[in-house]
Amino acid sequence: MEKEEYTYEDYQHTANWLRSKTTLQPQVAVICGSGLGGLTDKLTKAESFNYKDIPNFPQSTVPGHAGRLVFGYLKGQPCVMMQGRFHMYEGYSLRKVTFPVRVFHLLGVHTLVVTNAAGGLNPKFEVGDIMLIRDHINLPGLCGQNPLRGPNEERFGTRFPAMSDAYDRDMRLLAHRIWEQMKEQRELQEGTYVMVAGPNFETVAECMLLQKLGADAVGMSTVPEVIVARHCGLRVFGFSLITNKVIMNYESHKTANHQEVLDSGKNAAQKLEEFISRLMDCVPQTEKTC
Ligand code: HPA
Repeated sequence: MEKEEYTYEDYQHTANWLRSKTTLQPQVAVICGSGLGGLTDKLTKAESFNYKDIPNFPQSTVPGHAGRLVFGYLKGQPCVMMQGRFHMYEGYSLRKVTFPVRVFHLLGVHTLVVTNAAGGLNPKFEVGDIMLIRDHINLPGLCGQNPLRGPNEERFGTRFPAMSDAYDRDMRLLAHRIWEQMKEQRELQEGTYVMVAGPNFETVAECMLLQKLGADAVGMSTVPEVIVARHCGLRVFGFSLITNKVIMNYESHKTANHQEVLDSGKNAAQKLEEFISRLMDCVPQTEKTC
């Protein structure tokens, strides 16, 4: 029977196991969303571990998510990347979904980069656009599903962490600057990501609600990892790849599907991968003080 709750020692055990297998000391962790695992191909001196071989690690069950942890250097920056993440809709507790983030913290990581595939709610967004995440709406969290629910482990962070500055301002400014240098046709979008639990895609009425709430993109991940990362003091920044425009009217004959998400992910993923590797040069060397 796999665990649903972890002790501090469980996280330490996993971190120590990984430390015993690689000499690389990652400073930056990247969570690769659906179809975005190609970023690991850019790593030099890569060493990878299947989730099934890592003590306490959950398994990824979603097509398009490989289920590997890859260590290596991206533009000289020592990194660890998750090729495949864990989702609430797979049935995992949010403690499980976020387990790797605390392990990264114990490994000495100071910055977490989150990526995901998302549906565009903002009518200005096109399929293939990249949205820099400025903020999020934790919809499951507002209804009680929060990864920090339960006893607080003070060794990771405070009981009541702030979330108003979750997405690092300096990294967002840098991201805009680097995007300009890339001379892409489309502008870099920026906005609010709303997490829904999934696994079904949204109804028309739900999309209208989410848009009214002020969200620009909708997806089924990311927010729990960001909350746990900020709780333990990691610097966070991230991107949504807009893989589909959500259906906003009852006349439309289109429906969202996972294959569409993977296919458009494939086309735009290279652009996002190049963008993230350029940003690696700009990540400050130190832990964020918060
Ligand atoms: N809704 C929720 N999650 C998603 C979507 C969507 O339209 N596209 C990609 N992930």
